[in-house]
Amino acid sequence: MAAGMHRVPPGDYAGTSPHWLREPVDVDALVPVLWSSTARKDDDGVLHVGGLAIPDLVADVNTPAYVLDEDDFRSRARAFRDGFAGYDVYYAGKAFLCTAVARWVAEEGLCLDVCSDGELTVALRAGTDPARIGYHGNNKTAMELRRAVDAGVGRIIVDSFHEIERVADVARQLGVRQSVMVRVTAGVEAHTHEFIATAHEDQKFGFSISSGDAFEAASRVVAHDSLELRGLHSHIGSQIFDTSGWEVAARRVLALHARIGAELGTVLPELDLGGGFGIAYTTQDDPADPALLAEQITKIVTGECAALGLDVPHLSIEPGRAIVGPAMCTVYTVGTVKQVALDGGATRTYVSVDGGMSDNIRPALYDADYSCTLASRASSTEPVLARVVGKHCESGDIVVKDEFLPGDIAPGDLVAVPGTGAYGRSMASNYNHALRPPVVAVKDGAARVVVRRETVDDLLATDIG
Ligand code: LLP
Repeated sequence: MAAGMHRVPPGDYAGTSPHWLREPVDVDALVPVLWSSTARKDDDGVLHVGGLAIPDLVADVNTPAYVLDEDDFRSRARAFRDGFAGYDVYYAGKAFLCTAVARWVAEEGLCLDVCSDGELTVALRAGTDPARIGYHGNNKTAMELRRAVDAGVGRIIVDSFHEIERVADVARQLGVRQSVMVRVTAGVEAHTHEFIATAHEDQKFGFSISSGDAFEAASRVVAHDSLELRGLHSHIGSQIFDTSGWEVAARRVLALHARIGAELGTVLPELDLGGGFGIAYTTQDDPADPALLAEQITKIVTGECAALGLDVPHLSIEPGRAIVGPAMCTVYTVGTVKQVALDGGATRTYVSVDGGMSDNIRPALYDADYSCTLASRASSTEPVLARVVGKHCESGDIVVKDEFLPGDIAPGDLVAVPGTGAYGRSMASNYNHALRPPVVAVKDGAARVVVRRETVDDLLATDIG
């Protein structure tokens, strides 16, 4: 169903739901932009993903479960690869990484961004070519740096003066010349949640351009024989829709790029503009097509280079969320349903499911909105304003803050939440000793568990009494 096919909430709900939420004409229909490309509902209202009926799938793997649409993931990866032709596209593994996904990334011709020894280990286990790995982080340990240099990672993105010395030492000891990029802070106020904006001045990442630290960092890298300065790196934040942030950042970063060429005599071959491309979590979000983003960003960079009299450097980007986010949904089973009276006489239907903030911390951490649908059957009952909540011991344990669900939603029903692929499983926790759910890849009617559900033995493995 198109986002426009909603009617205004009836008076009862005024003030109890966000201004943008509309009571759907058909509560069973999917809003395509929120779902992976193979998701559809059959005539009985049953959700299918990757050619598999969700109730059949969870009969095998149980709930909660993350369902990963392989074709969708691969086609989004290809859309970035082809849209940003001529760039290197690094998939940001922090959004979600497992060995299967690392292989898909390589098969689709993308490079990989990791930011910890754990992520590097997964990538290497998957057979990723180390030369195609970029290594991030503002406080990589000496052990992590040694492992990364020893493994032959293509580039390390340095983030502090201490780290420049550490990488230089490790590379010297190992007898290699390590490629590095300098992470810079462009001083951009990205229009996103405060916790996921990363290019304003007062935060922990990168070297500030305006203070002169970024130029100083480049000078120090150039002074080390064991380091090769490949270029500058700027990541302005996450879940961003408007290219104006990249425009301001590119202008400032390229001015520094030009200064390094002029004053240090080092023509930097590359420039990385980071990730952060937004996706649709609700009908409020309007993500741009990668090809259009590429066109806009390339125009900004080439225009700025022309103005500065620079050759356009080799460009790279690091999308995470925009590739894996929409490719996954989470399926839960409803356990209890409660009507809660609100001021003004309306009621809100609280639907408790068998997961929550342990499998998706984003609503609690970033006030993130999601949507959901009844996945196991159709309903002809009038929709009600619902809040889907988890089973953890906190009132902030919200899965979907506001959504219309059929009025007869009941224990045993399956509810699916789209768009949970990015920073869902990767930020999942064992809060309340929850067992983290499996990731089940689906494709052409077949399911493959790529990350299994944790067991009580996994939980107790670290509890040595
Ligand atoms: N490159 C760098 C250097 C990054 O720090 C990040 C994300 C990315 C690329 C990928 O950004 P993406 O394209 O996925 O937006 N946990 C938060 C997001 C934190 C992002 C951290 N860095 C969330 O759930 O919204």
